[in-house]
Amino acid sequence: MIDMTLKNYKDKIDMRLDILLGETESNYKTVVESARYSLFAGGKRIRPVLLLEFYKLFGGEDDCAYNFACAVEMIHTYSLIHDDLPCMDNDDMRRGKPSNHKKYGETTALLAGDALLTESFGVAARTIGIKSDYLVKAMAYLSANAGISGMIGGQVIDTLGEYETTEELLYEIYNLKTAALIKTACVCGAILGGASEEEQKKVALFAQKLGIAFQIIDDILDREGTEEKLGKPIGSDLKNQKITIVDILGIEECRKRAKDLTDEAMLILDSFEKDSTVIKEITEYLLVRDY
Ligand code: IPE
Ligand code: IPE
Ligand code: MG
Ligand code: MG
Ligand code: MG
Repeated sequence: MIDMTLKNYKDKIDMRLDILLGETESNYKTVVESARYSLFAGGKRIRPVLLLEFYKLFGGEDDCAYNFACAVEMIHTYSLIHDDLPCMDNDDMRRGKPSNHKKYGETTALLAGDALLTESFGVAARTIGIKSDYLVKAMAYLSANAGISGMIGGQVIDTLGEYETTEELLYEIYNLKTAALIKTACVCGAILGGASEEEQKKVALFAQKLGIAFQIIDDILDREGTEEKLGKPIGSDLKNQKITIVDILGIEECRKRAKDLTDEAMLILDSFEKDSTVIKEITEYLLVRDY
């Protein structure tokens, strides 16, 4: 059931992305090719799907929010291209294919990431059919959470390794590098759909729990997954001597933490007293995923 739902969404998201970042014959076509290579390499599209579902949950109609959902996926994809670079995690595979810099070289990979990030704000701004004050608010939220005090901040602490790695520090990193963009997807969907401030706060709390659970599972999969299924290298964290929550708590306790966070997230969904069946299915699926 959830597979079908995700597949249907994925097809529509891919169709829109194809239009938003169309091929070109210009002299700079390489960067477009490179950005499209990563964009269509086969991500799960969890963030845009969450955005569209929260949009619907708060009364959003039609397909109005697709541009904004695609903008979030563009930012996510840029973050993966940069995350794989030799100066970051130095990983050679992503989404089942050679990572962007392996295929196009570091210069183009860097610029493709820059391009996706920069274009994403134009794409978001062209979200038609939404009240302009909702749209401006959502764009500011996107910027703040993908930016310094969000995903970028998390990547900085994660890669520079300037502090002693404690459980608290890891939770901070996961909250920033991973949960911030997942939160952006959920809260921006809610904002665009017309959720109240109170509702937005609850959505943010739900997404924070989901996002931290998501990164705990990512760390477990880095240890116990298979490259074939994951589409990215296993043991990347060990290779980079990166201490993760798995090293501190062990696999079993990590699974328990992820399950507890998922249960707490589910309770928040119940409190909306709306039909959040699909969001619940996604939340459950993300706990048991193997890629
Ligand atoms: C991977 O995200 C990066 C993390 C934040 C852990 P996803 O697991 O959503 O990657 P794709 O989009 O499916 O490739
Ligand atoms: C990624 O964390 C967070 C990002 C913001 C991209 P990881 O470095 O663990 O993600 P993967 O395992 O390479 O997908
Ligand atoms: Mg990383
Ligand atoms: Mg990485
Ligand atoms: Mg990882």
